[in-house]
Amino acid sequence: MDLKIYKDKQEVAEQFSGYFVDQLKNKDTFHVALSGGSTPKIVFDVLAENFTDKVDWNKVHFYWGDERCVPPTDDESNYKMTVEHLFSKIKVPKENINRILGEKDPEGEALRYANLLEIDLDRVEEVPQFDLVILGMGDDGHTASIFPHEIELWDSEDHCVVATHPDSGQKRVSINGKVINAAKEVAFLVTGASKAEKVEAVVERTEGSEAYPASLVNPASGNLVWFLDEEAASKLNQNPS
Ligand code: 6PG
Repeated sequence: MDLKIYKDKQEVAEQFSGYFVDQLKNKDTFHVALSGGSTPKIVFDVLAENFTDKVDWNKVHFYWGDERCVPPTDDESNYKMTVEHLFSKIKVPKENINRILGEKDPEGEALRYANLLEIDLDRVEEVPQFDLVILGMGDDGHTASIFPHEIELWDSEDHCVVATHPDSGQKRVSINGKVINAAKEVAFLVTGASKAEKVEAVVERTEGSEAYPASLVNPASGNLVWFLDEEAASKLNQNPS
């Protein structure tokens, strides 16, 4: 596990964008699963504004680790957020954008998206393998849309599952733990003081941390990197600052 701790959200966004561009080097095609929520917004802004001419977007194929079951025009849509902060500012072929159809029946869409991953991506022991999976983490220790109250979905046989947000009851479509841990590389993007308690628990494997889905992120490749700001890292023993 590689812990990268930066001053603030802006520095995390700049450093992550540089890392993302490096990941693309010497690759003919690159399949990436994006995270949703609010943390990626500044990262996508920086990537689009400062790095767009350093990337051949024709070779980057975009997918999502999870989506809210809402139309693509809804403010809750991870796809909409990504269009506003990234796709509207870069030249990426439409066919490279593989969104989860949040407006469709969740069960049917989970099946469709799993089939798409199984066709588009290489597979390791029948599990679709991304080049990079980007993950966020909730204040409750959830990641993608695998929440603590449904942690059994992590080991589902279905590569994409239907989840339920614990507070809002909102339906979500999410990749499962097998797909996350089959990735060549996994990167956590986690910022803000509200995440510090769970970052400490998951990174330092404190007692009870196994209840947090984020603690199950353990790619077989061994390539796991955390991009944190000082606030999110503030409870870590090894936090230099
Ligand atoms: C989603 C996400 C989810 C997110 C965390 C953190 O669709 O909500 O993919 O896993 O990464 O909830 O969200 P914030 O970045 O908003 O704190």
